[in-house]
Amino acid sequence: MQDIRRPIVVLDFGAQYSKLIARRVREANVYSVIVPYSIPAERLRAMDPVGIIFSGGPASVHQPGAPHPDPEVFSLGVPILGICYGVQLLAQMLGGRVARADQREYGIAQLEHGDDGTGFLKNVDAVTQVWMSHGDRVEELPEGFTAVGRTENSPYAAVADPARRFYGVQFHPEVVHTPQGMRIFENFVHDICGCPGDWRMGSFIDLAVEEIRAKVGDRKVLCGLSGGVDSSVAAALIHRAVGDQLTCVFVNNGLLRRGEADLVLEVFRDTFHFNVVYADAEDEFLTALAGVTDPECKRKIIGKVFIDVFERESKNIGQVDFLAQGTLYPDVIESTSATGGPSVTIKSHHNVGGLPAKMRLELLEPLRELFKDEVRALGRELGLPPHVVDRHPFPGPGLGVRCVGELTRERLDTLRDADAIFIDEIRKAGLYDEIWQALVCLLPVKSVGVQGDERTYEEVCSLRAVTSTDAMTADWYRFPPDFLQRVSNRVCNEVKHINRVLYDITSKPPGTIEWE
Ligand code: XMP
Repeated sequence: MQDIRRPIVVLDFGAQYSKLIARRVREANVYSVIVPYSIPAERLRAMDPVGIIFSGGPASVHQPGAPHPDPEVFSLGVPILGICYGVQLLAQMLGGRVARADQREYGIAQLEHGDDGTGFLKNVDAVTQVWMSHGDRVEELPEGFTAVGRTENSPYAAVADPARRFYGVQFHPEVVHTPQGMRIFENFVHDICGCPGDWRMGSFIDLAVEEIRAKVGDRKVLCGLSGGVDSSVAAALIHRAVGDQLTCVFVNNGLLRRGEADLVLEVFRDTFHFNVVYADAEDEFLTALAGVTDPECKRKIIGKVFIDVFERESKNIGQVDFLAQGTLYPDVIESTSATGGPSVTIKSHHNVGGLPAKMRLELLEPLRELFKDEVRALGRELGLPPHVVDRHPFPGPGLGVRCVGELTRERLDTLRDADAIFIDEIRKAGLYDEIWQALVCLLPVKSVGVQGDERTYEEVCSLRAVTSTDAMTADWYRFPPDFLQRVSNRVCNEVKHINRVLYDITSKPPGTIEWE
């Protein structure tokens, strides 16, 4: 097996896609880590990489101050793959020429290639779709390089210098719009870098456990357990590393799904024997939220009360130094911009918040590099039951952001009833695992209806189900009409205060998954 300390290192030049590149490498069963582009070559050498990938990035190589790697990186004797901005760096730094573009080339292109003998494009069809998104382009190759693939607008869409083992692509092999991109990664990491491809999630666990132990030592860790996949897997991983030094606090904020609190306690306290502190804070949350309808205000209040309750409960645990969070990679990029600069807040997320500073805790975020499906694989490997690992994501502010308008106990109960029916029908129809996330929103409108001979004037709910791979984009799920009819009938008949059911057909973008 590959020594898991010998990674493929992705140098991050500020691309949205850097983590996706690392993930593709892991999908090829090779360990991969991401480091800032500015890492000195000496430190890179110390990491003993089997290969290096230069990510794309928003800059132009001609810009003053454009990010460049330490030039010594070319002398490490390690294969390098440059992607988009990365290949322009290779060209510019090794003596070729990169032309400024007047216009960006953006979208789908057809890559054509023949048998060039380098193996770089092995198993890739002679003509295949690729995704382009670049401004500048390579005009002249450095010595030693040849073009091995072209598109209509990019004569140097794929280039290779097999003697030095330097390779580059102008397009993005990591995105789904490049359907055969994975083959390019496989060729690079398996054939060119010589990785056997036997890295598995289990190796991630070994490495993460070792890191957590080294960081935590004999100190204590606190974890806010929400019952969601992310915090559950983070807790299980940390528990594997430091056992009873971990205490989980489960806050019932009154915004949970039906049966949620019981499920969490049953799994983590009764089955897995974690230290779990249960805080029933329903009244406190609902009092603080009374009369509030603005989505951001709701999120802020929920976040604040959560911190108050959490802080209070954790005082009883004694000295704690770390706060564990199940932050995933998509949370990280949706909450910060790639360059670390200011970005527009779409929604203030509940789990990347003010708690650590207030409680003077150091963060422990062992899932920060991972995508949701990788977290699920990790959870399975850690022995968590399928109904925990495979459940749909559920937001920290819970039903608070699905109960549009005022949050009263009665409206929340109505929403819980409708939600339980929708999820139950999805499970019965065997569709649960096909859907990324399903939810019901209670809307702040009433509608007139007729039931029996009676006029009704009741609440309206909207069903939402989406497919996605990472929640960054999503498409609405196409249910068969009779399924929707069944849910609608049940909701109108069984839920006391709902007399109208809608189905939401908005993708993300322009919509978000949650309504608020
Ligand atoms: P949106 O609504 O932004 O949601 O498209 C993307 C994904 O994030 C979840 N979500 C949250 N998760 N804390 C979380 O832990 C939050 O505050 C939060 N808000 C949204 C949402 O359910 C979806 O999976």
